[in-house]
Amino acid sequence: MVVVGIESTAHTASVGIVDERANVLGLASDMYRPTAGGIHPREAANHHVELLPNLVKTALESAHVRPTEVEGVAFAQGPGLGPCLRAGATVARMLALTWDRPLVPVNHCVAHVEIARVLSGLDDPMLLYASGGNTQVIAYARGRYRVLGETLDIGIGNFLDKLWIELGGTFPGGPALEKEAQAGTELHPLPYSVHGMDVAFSGILTATLALRAKGVSRPDLAYSVEATAYAMLTEITERALAHRRRDTVVLGGGVACNERLRGMVRTMVEGRGGTMYAPPRSLCVDNGAMIAWTGHLALRAGQTSAVEQSAVQPRQRTDLVLTPWRGG
Ligand code: ATP
Ligand code: FE2
Repeated sequence: MVVVGIESTAHTASVGIVDERANVLGLASDMYRPTAGGIHPREAANHHVELLPNLVKTALESAHVRPTEVEGVAFAQGPGLGPCLRAGATVARMLALTWDRPLVPVNHCVAHVEIARVLSGLDDPMLLYASGGNTQVIAYARGRYRVLGETLDIGIGNFLDKLWIELGGTFPGGPALEKEAQAGTELHPLPYSVHGMDVAFSGILTATLALRAKGVSRPDLAYSVEATAYAMLTEITERALAHRRRDTVVLGGGVACNERLRGMVRTMVEGRGGTMYAPPRSLCVDNGAMIAWTGHLALRAGQTSAVEQSAVQPRQRTDLVLTPWRGG
């Protein structure tokens, strides 16, 4: 049996079909790309409403799955942009009612954790979750995932996107900045803002734009920004490992696609005698497969929702969600 998972928290509309052993049988995604500036929530939501029905069809067809083989319909309930979340939730409710299957609300951040955890084969790893809106170091303890450290201002991905647009590029900035950084040679000092297990990025943005005004090249800026920001993330992950006496780390979120970040965290973890795992890129970025897999876990733990009680929760926090499948 499979679970269908629907992701629509921000820029990406995605449908995943996953079986009970976490095999991704089908995955169909489409990203809304604004022509200029950042994401407009309404425009993104319109994009999702328009595309989701076809993405469902494509994902089911590529998985060779019929609706009768679907065990449940999972959707990302939060956190995210209200109009975008409602687009995915509406499609999920419609499918659950049409197919007469349970509706399973899933937390988007927990889904990033669970897909990375199952693919890694690691039982109880620390997670560095680095995406557009979120930057958190997470570990499981007593019934839920706990946020040990996080950004004090903006998410790392939103920071990279904003910076890249200020430097004349277009959304998404993270991957473009990664390419640009490959040609960088000189490391310019930027504010290194680590506070215990928390980080802050806005000072780097201001300082980078000041360096740009002084004529520093874009590749050098990209290199300096990556080296500084990813060192900060690596440091708070190491502090969390030492504090919790753990030695395994998994990465999740779109920024976990980045080779420099992967390399820096790997070097740190292996230097401590531990193991690091990063999922394939298609499963680091927002995707319906992680929602479907977490839907399996939630469904088995009895976490289903009546349609009338399935309102989206744009501000739902990782550490407020119960994860009974992980034990008491
Ligand atoms: P969340 O709701 O979990 O915050 P999100 O909506 O930001 O998720 P993701 O797909 O998890 O979506 O992450 C998107 C972010 O990842 C964007 O900010 C993008 O610039 C960044 N990103 C993608 N690829 C790379 C890369 N190679 N290097 C750095 N950043 C990247
Ligand atoms: Fe995400």
